[in-house]
Amino acid sequence: MHILITGGAGFIGSHVVRHFLNHYPSYTISNLDSLTYAGNLANLSDVEERQNYRFVKGDITDGDFLMRLFEEHQFDGVIHLAAESHVDRSIVNPTAFVVTNVMGTVNLLNAAKASWQSDYEGKKFYHISTDEVYGSLGSGGLFTEETPYDPHSPYSASKASSDHFVRAWHDTFGLPVVISNCSNNYGSFQFPEKLIPLFINNILHNKPLPVYGKGENIRDWLWVVDHAQAIDLIYHQGKTGETYNIGGHNEWSNIDLIRLLCRIMDTKLSRAAGESEKLVTYVTDRAGHDLRYAIDSSKLQRELGWVPSITFEKGLELTVEWYLSNGEWLNNVTSGSYQHYYEKMYGVR
Ligand code: NAD
Ligand code: DAU
Repeated sequence: MHILITGGAGFIGSHVVRHFLNHYPSYTISNLDSLTYAGNLANLSDVEERQNYRFVKGDITDGDFLMRLFEEHQFDGVIHLAAESHVDRSIVNPTAFVVTNVMGTVNLLNAAKASWQSDYEGKKFYHISTDEVYGSLGSGGLFTEETPYDPHSPYSASKASSDHFVRAWHDTFGLPVVISNCSNNYGSFQFPEKLIPLFINNILHNKPLPVYGKGENIRDWLWVVDHAQAIDLIYHQGKTGETYNIGGHNEWSNIDLIRLLCRIMDTKLSRAAGESEKLVTYVTDRAGHDLRYAIDSSKLQRELGWVPSITFEKGLELTVEWYLSNGEWLNNVTSGSYQHYYEKMYGVR
């Protein structure tokens, strides 16, 4: 079994690569990543020496390169995570999201189709997507697999578009695809532009915590290790042509989450209670900010027996401990070009 994992040097991808190497030593895992600002091979330093692991530096926007790669290797499966993934960046530079998330996905579909030449026995193309394609919920209800698509940001529109292309290659060409749409992930190795690692880093350095709007937006948080386990189940047991929603049944308003994070940080840094929360600074809201995401993952639980393994309080504490004991990783990724992004985005250093 030879699986191509795209975006394996990123946050979720690195956990998926590690999960497959640890659980399936007989598989060959190729990690294709162009190493954008979000890709970091240090995320995989504990597994990079494995005999059955290969890193390929390459760009999914280069269709000819992908055709050659698929000619060279007979991949049995693709798990596609490579993407531009940060909503705020998609507001600043939407085109990059169309190029990578839409064109890159179409290039991969073309390469898999050409390589497998309609002999789809034992093959699988697994596309990793997001709950953001479903739009925004009011105070009630959950996203199910039947919820109509209603994306609002350039990021979610590009992911929705890529999902449609994946389904089109299934319906038109018979490509054996499966899609999952997951809620917000948290855990180790997440780039500190996303809420949780950004705020851990800012608290550590006594910098303001920029809360968008009133902090009332709600997200459904899932530990990244549980997402990797769900991806394993769906890759091996998910039905071709189907979609599975993945989520932690774990809704938090941003401000409640931030207060919990501040309390954990105060304890871990031996600061006085309430010290970190003083850094909370309300800033202009994100344009087109979706109010609430919440996932109904009962199909995945019922059909494939998946359940999240950890409470949010425990997972968040483990996550904080990881960032605090991996200061070198954090310093490396927050230096250089990231500083320029931060200055541009928030107007402060
Ligand atoms: P990330 O930004 O941390 O990692 C993305 C990876 O893709 C990086 O390693 C980057 O170098 C690589 N990449 C980007 N453009 C590429 C290109 N043109 N060619 C090859 N590689 C390229 O993202 P993440 O948070 O790990 O998300 C991974 C996937 O999961 C994405 O498809 C995202 O939409 C989806 N997702 C993320 C979340 C979340 O909470 N982070 C939730 C649901 C779904
Ligand atoms: O729902 C799944 C999605 O979750 C994934 O598809 C995306 O790839 C991933 O980035 C994430 O998107 P969000 O926009 O929800 O995540 P982010 O961490 O950027 O923001 C979480 C919430 O916190 C959101 O309501 C915006 C808010 N926020 C974020 C940042 C970075 C702030 O209030 N301040 C900030 O500085």
